[in-house]
Amino acid sequence: MNLLYRFTGRKSARALAHMRTAGRLAGETLCAVDEILAPGISTADIDRFVDRDTRARGCIPAPLGYRGFPKSVCTSVNEIVCHGIPGPRVLEAGDIINIDVTHIYQGYHGDTSATFYIGEPSEAARRVTEVARRSLALGIAEVVPGARLGAIGAAIQSYAEAEGCSVVREYGGHGIGRGFHEPPTVHHVGHRGQGMRMRPGMTFTIEPMINLGSHRVALMPDGWTVATIDGSLSAQFEHTVLVTDDGVEILTARPGPLRHSEGR
Ligand code: MF3
Ligand code: CO
Ligand code: CO
Repeated sequence: MNLLYRFTGRKSARALAHMRTAGRLAGETLCAVDEILAPGISTADIDRFVDRDTRARGCIPAPLGYRGFPKSVCTSVNEIVCHGIPGPRVLEAGDIINIDVTHIYQGYHGDTSATFYIGEPSEAARRVTEVARRSLALGIAEVVPGARLGAIGAAIQSYAEAEGCSVVREYGGHGIGRGFHEPPTVHHVGHRGQGMRMRPGMTFTIEPMINLGSHRVALMPDGWTVATIDGSLSAQFEHTVLVTDDGVEILTARPGPLRHSEGR
């Protein structure tokens, strides 16, 4: 890097080909894990399944060993906002769970998550989950060359807050490629005039974390698990996207609806 270096985030054609594959396979794993969800399974069961499924598709699970993260997927139940560590916790009817998978294919990352319903959701669970789902869709709809990254956060924040929910500030989307987390940060709150301009060939994630109560969060003593400060429910959806010449391509698009999320 020298004084004339200017960050663009643009990916090469070869990089994009691998990003498309990584993203598609990550989406397929999310569809596959959807099929095993039911009351009585543990988050460790989800971890085992995701690890095997990721490797069966010729990929490496990026979370495993990332900055010391001990498992192959993040599982965040109810008031857990993100980065939940799989373990002995058994899912119960009425729970919601975000499952966040990241695949590495030929050195390139695909990062995607969804929130799923275990059994019948409460009104509150349904509300926060559907606001999070729509928040991601509205953020993606802002992706077009020439627009500023701030438009994404502005669209998400104005919608989610009008729905009586709040948007987590401490964690954002991120550039992605050879690195799991690259610049720029993609804020889920803010103003349209802020941030760098989107350019064709940029790849980044959008992954709004939406809380039913306060936007404030707390880091648990394990150093990873993030929870809402007031114990309110939190939901999240994530896609990896590419800025195209005239809009957006969702690299982690799924072949069909998730039975325990979109299907409910
Ligand atoms: N997948 C998360 C994200 O969306 C990051 C998880 S980092 C881990 O950025 F180490 F917890 F896996
Ligand atoms: Co991400
Ligand atoms: Co993720």
